[in-house]
Amino acid sequence: MASDTPLPLLGGLSAAEFLRDYWQRKPLLIRGALPDFESPLEPDELAGLACEEGVEARLVEEDGPDGPWQVSHGPFDEAVFGELPERDWTLLVQAVDHYVPEVAELLDRFDFLPRWRLDDIMVSYAPPGGSVGPHVDQYDVFLLQGSGQRRWQLGGKVTDDAPILAGIDLRILERFEIEPGDDWVLQPGDMLYLPPGWAHHGVSQSEDCMTYSVGFRAPSADEAITSFADYLGEQLPPSLRYADAGMTPPADPTELDDAALERMRRFILETLDEPAQLAQWFGRVMTQPKYVDQLVPSETPTDVDELVALLHEGEELLRSPGSRFAWRALDDENATLFVDGDGIECPSPLARAVAADTPLDVELLEFPGAAELLAALLDAGSLTWPDDEEE
Ligand code: SIN
Ligand code: CO
Repeated sequence: MASDTPLPLLGGLSAAEFLRDYWQRKPLLIRGALPDFESPLEPDELAGLACEEGVEARLVEEDGPDGPWQVSHGPFDEAVFGELPERDWTLLVQAVDHYVPEVAELLDRFDFLPRWRLDDIMVSYAPPGGSVGPHVDQYDVFLLQGSGQRRWQLGGKVTDDAPILAGIDLRILERFEIEPGDDWVLQPGDMLYLPPGWAHHGVSQSEDCMTYSVGFRAPSADEAITSFADYLGEQLPPSLRYADAGMTPPADPTELDDAALERMRRFILETLDEPAQLAQWFGRVMTQPKYVDQLVPSETPTDVDELVALLHEGEELLRSPGSRFAWRALDDENATLFVDGDGIECPSPLARAVAADTPLDVELLEFPGAAELLAALLDAGSLTWPDDEEE
């Protein structure tokens, strides 16, 4: 789709306009973003997910039995839900797109953003009064109202050092001043986009308030620098060192002088300035799975001939829910396909097809090395056969 096509999801803005004026800059309320949206999940299905091993779930009780803003972590015992009060609590379940295909389908709507920026879709359920308190997230988020009503109030951009309530397991802002006008009740199908660092407070107004948070992550400077330095560091020879050949005699041998500091600065910057390595690291880091345990490598290596035969019989492989794919060209013909934190060199059209939503069928076999690549991805757990999906 052309980037200047008006999108109902963005309230009639084109992707290009949204990215230019709102993305990472300011909030956008979109009434009727998905006009006929019906929550693909019922509250008790969400509660069921929160009881499953390996699913990240939290329960926030504003007036918990052990104190205000009590947070408990899943997996929960079903009985927990029967004992909760009638109001003022929230159940939050992360990565629901990994478990419910109808939720994962929502992601197709967000194809105007790089897929590798996606974190996950978190789904919350709250009876009236339920909220997680006024807070700030470091993520871009699209808050889609799934069912019921939620009142959203925004408190503008806040700094990193904004005081938060002490002694609780949640980062709730001590001060929250609503920006005039930034106060709306969202109905099913309405959506609110929030950039990182924007104070917000969402309170359930109805019995069955379900909110879908489509979250996009960006590595912090700390994560990016330490992770790239680690990746690069493993490949650097021990002989590559700070060097000061030809230096002038120091004025004072105990001083760390300007020339020494400049030599170290250049040494670090020049060592880090490796665009090819940067690309290899970037692809790996942005495709690392959110939950490594969800990646289940196969016990026995795939027989490549058998895989080829199955594809010829009309079988299709599936991308494992939660597996992440991206690609980057290496030259005119080849690319690196990044999958779940690994990088594999292959013909560009093959990398593109595997990373995109193209069916993984017999047609891929026209590319050299395709069968071996698919076998390796099956063995790693990034692809599955449809029958194995539930295992
Ligand atoms: C919620 O769904 O209750 C909270 C979402 C958020 O504020 O990030
Ligand atoms: Co939030």
